[in-house]
Amino acid sequence: MSVDMQTKQDVLEVMKDRHSVRKFEKGVTIPEETMEEILKATIEAPSSWNLQHWKFLVVESEAQKEKLLPIGFNQQQIVDSSATIVILGDLEANLHAEEIYGQAVELGFMENAVKETLVSQINGAYERDGFAMSEALKNSSLAAMQLMLAAKAKGYDTVAMGGFNPAALIEEFNIPARYVPTMLISVGKAAVEAYGTARFPLERVVVKDSF
Ligand SMILES: Cc1cc2nc3c(=O)[nH]c(=O)nc-3n(C[C@H](O)[C@H](O)[C@H](O)COP(=O)(O)O)c2cc1C
Repeated sequence: MSVDMQTKQDVLEVMKDRHSVRKFEKGVTIPEETMEEILKATIEAPSSWNLQHWKFLVVESEAQKEKLLPIGFNQQQIVDSSATIVILGDLEANLHAEEIYGQAVELGFMENAVKETLVSQINGAYERDGFAMSEALKNSSLAAMQLMLAAKAKGYDTVAMGGFNPAALIEEFNIPARYVPTMLISVGKAAVEAYGTARFPLERVVVKDSF
């Protein structure tokens, strides 16, 4: 098997092995360089127009995790895991367009006129009702998935959580209005394996060509 084939197989293994862990070993610190590696893999996620609609609030200190606990409906994994990461979606990611495409022009990848058209198209789209929210949630969710897989590949387990009070989270953690909390993800060393979950068979979820 070639090296490339081997790597592709490993990715599939990681995807298959990832399941939600809810009991973590307490007191485990993820080395800073490992956390950085996980986050670097996370931000390789694709995003509409490459606007990178995400921000990650990494809650690692015991005091801050304790603060997060009631906001996350007392889900114990929030404090037992090494870190609970708040995945935020950026409601104003269109503001990145100028920088991202300006860089492309500077590097000679794009004509300035093309950049101007693109930036104006993006800003136009952001005027549509509900667009910013759906883009923020959609794109930050892709990063969230990537984070869970990267963590698993580095030997850590995760659980995504939608069970939290967003208003309290925003208030307690001073989250600027620009960001919408998408989900929380606890990351750490599993103390108890994830319990089994099943999936619907493919024929139940796949439709070919048209409904
Ligand atoms: C958006 C989202 C929100 C979730 N919210 C919670 C949660 O609040 N608490 C929890 O224990 N698990 C939560 N989960 C985990 C799911 O229950 C779990 O992913 C699902 O049962 C499939 O199991 P698996 O992840 O072990 O494969 C959430 C998962 C997702 C994707």
